[in-house]
Amino acid sequence: MNEHTQLKIGVVGGGLMGHGIAYLFAAAGHHVNVFEPSSEVRSSLPRRLKAIVELLEDDPSLLQRIASHGSLDQAMNGADWVFEAAPEKLPLKQQIFAELEKLVAPSTVLASNSSAIPSTEIGRHLVHRERVVGTHFWNPPHLVPLVEVIQNEKTAGDVVQRTMELLRRAGKVPVHVRQDIPGFVGNRLQHAMKREAIALVAAGVCDAETIDIVVREGFGARTAVLGPMEQSDLVGLDLALDIAEVLYQHLDRTAGPHAFLRDKVKAGKLGMKTGEGLRKWTAQEADAVRTRLSRFLAEQAKARKKNAAHTGRERTL
Ligand SMILES: NC(=O)c1ccc[n+]([C@@H]2O[C@H](COP(=O)([O-])OP(=O)(O)OC[C@H]3O[C@@H](n4cnc5c(N)ncnc54)[C@H](O)[C@@H]3O)[C@@H](O)[C@H]2O)c1
Repeated sequence: MNEHTQLKIGVVGGGLMGHGIAYLFAAAGHHVNVFEPSSEVRSSLPRRLKAIVELLEDDPSLLQRIASHGSLDQAMNGADWVFEAAPEKLPLKQQIFAELEKLVAPSTVLASNSSAIPSTEIGRHLVHRERVVGTHFWNPPHLVPLVEVIQNEKTAGDVVQRTMELLRRAGKVPVHVRQDIPGFVGNRLQHAMKREAIALVAAGVCDAETIDIVVREGFGARTAVLGPMEQSDLVGLDLALDIAEVLYQHLDRTAGPHAFLRDKVKAGKLGMKTGEGLRKWTAQEADAVRTRLSRFLAEQAKARKKNAAHTGRERTL
C-alpha cells in the first residue's frame, strides 16, 4: 500500500460512529460502502456527511466516494477492510462477522469498533480469526485523532501493522494495544478518573462543576501536549513515588459503580438529555457545550490537516 493506493472500505452500521469512519476514509481517497439496515438512518446519511464537509471546510466531491446500501452483500463486495460499527451487542456482532466471513476474501481485515466487547469474542466462531482486530475509534471519529488497534489472542501481527498503516495514512494516530482487555487503554484511564471524580462529589468534597474546572483549567490544560508518563518523568519518579505513598491509600476503590451514580440513574437524572445528571442543564447550556466541543475539535483537525499538507509540500521540495 502506498499513499496513492485506493482501497475499498466496507463500513457496517451508518450511525454515529459509522458515518464518521466512512467520512475519514473517503477523505483519505478510498471508496467506502456503508451497510445500514435502517432506511431512515440511510436516508439521513448524506445530510450528516455534508455537515462534516461544512465543519471541516473540505471538498464536497469527496462524498462521491461514499455509497450506502441496505444489503450487506452489496456493500461488502470486494472490500479490502471492513470496519464494523453496529450496536454494542455481542450476539449481533458475532452474527455480522459470521456473515462477513461468507462475503469477503479470507485476507480482508475485519475490524470491530466495539467500545467494550473484546474482538476475541466477536470473532470466536470464525474460521479465519487471524484477520479479526479491534479498532477503537473515539467519538467523533473524523475529529479525534486516536484509534486504539487492539490485537486479540488470534490476530496476526501483520494485520495489526497494516491496519495501523491504513489509519496513519488517513491522518489518524493509531496505537497498538497488545492485549484484548476490557476498556482497552483509553477508557480504563478515563474511567479511573471518573470513578474518583464521582466519589469526590458523593463525599461532598466539591461539586461536579468544580471537578470540571479542576480538570479543564488544571492538568487538562497541559494534557494535550504532555501525557501522564512524560509528566511523571518531567517532575521525577522520586516525587511521583512520594505522592503515591501518601495518596493512593485514599483513592476510591469502590468495586462496582458508585451508589451515587446508580441513584442518579434510578432517579432518571441521566445528564443533558433529561436536564440533569451530575450537573443541571438547560437546553441552551447543553447546546453551548456541544458547540464548544465540536468547534474546538474541528479547529484542531483543520490545523493538523494544514500542518500535514505543509510537511508534505516541504518533503516534495
Ligand atoms: N458512540 C460512541 O461514543 C462510541 C465510541 C467508540 C465506539 N463506539 C462503538 O461503536 C459502535 C456503534 O456505536 P454508535 O454510537 O455509532 O451507535 P449508533 O446506534 O449510532 O449506530 C449503530 C448503527 O447500526 C445500525 N444497525 C442495527 N443493526 C445492524 C446490523 N445488524 N448490521 C449493521 N448495522 C446495524 C443501526 O441502525 C445504527 O444506525 C458500538 O459498538 C459502540 O460501542 C461508540
